[in-house]
Parts: sequence; C-alpha cells; structure tokens
Amino acid sequence: MKVISVVGARPQFVKLAPVANALTSAGHEHVIIHTGQHYDHNMSEALFTDLNIPAPNINLRIGSGSHGVQTGLMLAGIEDALRSHRSDWVLVYGDTNSTLAGSLAAAKLHRRVAHLEAGLRSLNRRMPEEINRVATDHLSDLLLAPTQTAADHLKNEGLSERTVVTGDVMTDVCLSLSATIGSRLPALPITVDPRHPFVIATIHRPENTDDPSRLERILKALGQIPRQVVLAAHPRLRAKAEEANLDVESFGVHISDPFSYSEMIAAIKASTSVVTDSGGMQKEAYILGVPCTTVRPETEWPETLVDQWNIIDANPDAIPTHATRPIPTVQPRPAYGSGNASENVIHALESWA
Ligand code: UD1
Repeated sequence: MKVISVVGARPQFVKLAPVANALTSAGHEHVIIHTGQHYDHNMSEALFTDLNIPAPNINLRIGSGSHGVQTGLMLAGIEDALRSHRSDWVLVYGDTNSTLAGSLAAAKLHRRVAHLEAGLRSLNRRMPEEINRVATDHLSDLLLAPTQTAADHLKNEGLSERTVVTGDVMTDVCLSLSATIGSRLPALPITVDPRHPFVIATIHRPENTDDPSRLERILKALGQIPRQVVLAAHPRLRAKAEEANLDVESFGVHISDPFSYSEMIAAIKASTSVVTDSGGMQKEAYILGVPCTTVRPETEWPETLVDQWNIIDANPDAIPTHATRPIPTVQPRPAYGSGNASENVIHALESWA
C-alpha cells in the first residue's frame, strides 16, 4: 500500500509521527508532502527531529498569507506534487488550511482520500477550522474518527458508512512520551522554578490575539494568577502583542518560544494547571490529569469537560479563578484510546484499500 500524507502545521506533525512509524513498521510505502504552512524552525523542523519523523519528501514552502491565498497556493502545489506519485490513499490530518487543500486537490484528481481526526465539530462556522473540517469530511472516502462523539457528528451528516472509530493518535504520542519522561522536570525559562507551582499557557487563535484590548485582558488575567505563569508563545501572539505595544513580561507572565513537543508534555505533566485555546493541549492536560481552562466559547473535545477537568470560558476575567480551582477528585477516563490508535488507522487503511 502506498500512502501520501499531506501536513503543514505543528499539530499535524504530532499526528503524523505515530502514523509514519506504524506505516513503516507494517512495510508500507509512505510519502510526506509538507505544505510549508508552518515554517519557523521550532514550529516545524524541530518537531520532525523531536518526534523522529522522516524528513518530508516534498516541501512546498507556502506559509502566511490570507486564508484564500494560502489555501489556493497549496491547492496548486499539492496537485502538482500528487501528479508525481501514485497513491492508494492520500491521508490528511486535522483541520488546518493544509488539510482542506490536501483533500480538495486529491478529490479533484480522483485519488482516494482518508481524513484522520474526522468528525470533530465546534458547530461554530466563524472558525476557519470548522469550515476545513466539514468540507474535508464531505470530500473524503474514509473518515477516521477519534471518538464516538466524532462518529455521531458524521452520522448526523449522513457519513456513517465511511466512518471508522480508531481512537486518537495524539494520545498514542502523549502516553508514550509521558512514560519516557517519568517524573523528570521540564526545561522552563530560567526565570521560572519548576519545583514551585506553575501554570502553562498558550494562546494563539485569532479571536484571542487579533483584538488588542482582548489580548491585553487575557495577558492581564494570566498575570493575576497567583502562580508562576509560563506563556509558550506562538509567533502570531508575539507579533500581535508587539503590534499592540504590549510587553508580555510587564504583566508578570514569563514568555518563552514554543516548546518542543516532548518538553511541552513534560511541562504540562509538572504544572498545576493549563490555560489554553489549543485543541491538543486540552486533551493532553486531560490525559495527564491536569486541570485545564479553555479560553473559548466551545470545544471539539467535550469528553474533557467531564468532572470539570476542562472548563470552557471565553471570559478572560475568569481565568485566575479557574486556573486555581482544586484538582478534581475523580480520575480522568480513558476517553481517547489506550495508545494504539495509529495501528487502528493503518488497519482501517489496509482493509479499505
Ligand atoms: C494554524 C491552524 C490552526 C492550528 C494552528 C496550530 C488554520 C486555519 N489554522 O493556525 O487550526 O491550531 O495552526 O499552531 O490552518 N507564523 C510564523 N511562523 C510560522 C507559522 C506562522 O511566523 O512558522 C505566523 C505568520 O504570521 C502567519 C501566522 O503566524 O501568518 C498564522 O499562521 P497560520 O499557519 O496561517 O495559522 P495558525 O494561527 O498557526
């Protein structure tokens, strides 16, 4: 079986890691097309090294730009790249512009497309990711759903016959890294003492970064948490804070570059709480048993809300209260699989090939 993976953004590299490994172990041919959506060293190359992912066969180097420009350039680039490789499956991951461009290019060339992490829904069409998910699910021939909730969404949209529930491949990576990390403390900025309580924060979504007064409210609220707060900053957050003349450190928040993935897992594990607007971090906090506050009005991972392991609240002023709430007394449930989702994905691709 020959599989072409199309990836481009940081969370997709994490999903690619166990899938690439499982494809190789099963003796399948695998070609990686990197669209170049994320291009900074610590947003791209560093993850390939950290997670032992083979270097991309093709890098289209298309990053930044408006949604239309970015997706359009990727569509043309991926079409060309697909023409130079036959495939049994084109595999697309998650919900970024690279996902949409990959599924559309493949479907137009009559290539069979599988969507990994199918069926997630925020039911908020103002999110670019929601448009990408819905369009990709309807373009794809095989829908690899991480959870039963995701499979139920697909059923409601008439797609159940193409759906297989596999578990979540990010959980495979998270559990395996967590076992390797054990109780090792993370490498945090030098101004933070990892032996004392600290909170890990990431904020990158346009609705939280692009309005200067909202960004200021979020930074202020982070600074009011009575703990050391480490903000691992996506390049967009740094750029928007600079544009708005906001000095992150002046709010009492320790800013750092994005962490390597394994260092982020170590940091979440050792933290007292997570504050984020990322999808992956909500899940990682849940799996690692750390309370999470999600600065958004909704989540695609509702399983994390059980027993208030995760609280969704778009009101920045509530962050300090949420981030200091006591740890739930009930253990998180194994909602995302037991660490073998990538094998289930390969098995589904083989059986549908
Ligand atoms: C993208 C995904 C989002 C995902 C996030 C993970 C879409 C629509 N959004 O959002 O779902 O949660 O990745 O990080 O695909 N930039 C750099 N260097 C980089 C990458 C980005 O400086 O390596 C800056 C550029 O100014 C760029 C901006 O960040 O224009 C936004 O990057 P983009 O890839 O368009 O979207 P993300 O916000 O990263």
